[in-house]
Amino acid sequence: MRYPILVANWKMNKTAAETDSFISQLKKSVKKPQATVVICPPFTALQAAHAGLKGTPFFLGAQDVYVLPKGPFTGEISIPMLRELGVKFVIAGHSERRKSFKESDNDINLKVKAACEHGLKPILCIGESWDDRKEGKTNEVVEKQLSAGIESLDEREARKILIAYEPVWAIGTGNNAQPGQAQDVHATIRKALEGAFSKETAKGIPLLYGGSVNPSNIGSYLKEKDIDGALVGGASLDPGEFASVIQNSRMKADARQ
Ligand code: 13P
Repeated sequence: MRYPILVANWKMNKTAAETDSFISQLKKSVKKPQATVVICPPFTALQAAHAGLKGTPFFLGAQDVYVLPKGPFTGEISIPMLRELGVKFVIAGHSERRKSFKESDNDINLKVKAACEHGLKPILCIGESWDDRKEGKTNEVVEKQLSAGIESLDEREARKILIAYEPVWAIGTGNNAQPGQAQDVHATIRKALEGAFSKETAKGIPLLYGGSVNPSNIGSYLKEKDIDGALVGGASLDPGEFASVIQNSRMKADARQ
């Protein structure tokens, strides 16, 4: 048995003071999570989160990163800056960054590679739009984003990554993918990973589902063979609701051979 992985993506929500209050409440309600829990606040709240999470089993993640360690890149945040604040994970290529900030597959690949090389675990986000799905292009789009995102990673680097499948139409809409629908895409992702890396490595890469996950549906995703956890947006903003997501998650049987 192994723990599921639950990642809270707060997006552009919560000040440092609000983060402090969230963490005190979460710590009170979840003492021993039966899950690997990662909290990704905005950059300005990382320091508060780092202080609040000290001595707890929760991990800290960032929502984005720049690929170079320092230099004339106004507004950017580097890996050493994140690591100094205890950050262990970083989200790369969220659909909101692809769409609103025009991040390309190549930009995202550089972030994934830099994170692997310099001590962060990247969470590579991929997922189709509603139009892609309607046109029957889901697998094609997801496979293309995946292969571009992991381009030129070696086996050692591949063992550090996580993949989040987030169908764009399910994000923030309440219209979550059915667990079976998500499993189908996760199986496609797993197969593509087996083509890119050894079977052993591909089997060990955690695949998270994201898109309107909440305390009532988390359990049904985690029953699926290739769903190892979730990337949670809206339901991670309230400490009580996120505590319920954690409590309603279940240990995963090691079904994959
Ligand atoms: P919601 O859980 O609000 O749908 O957001 C999902 C998401 O984008 C997490 O990265």
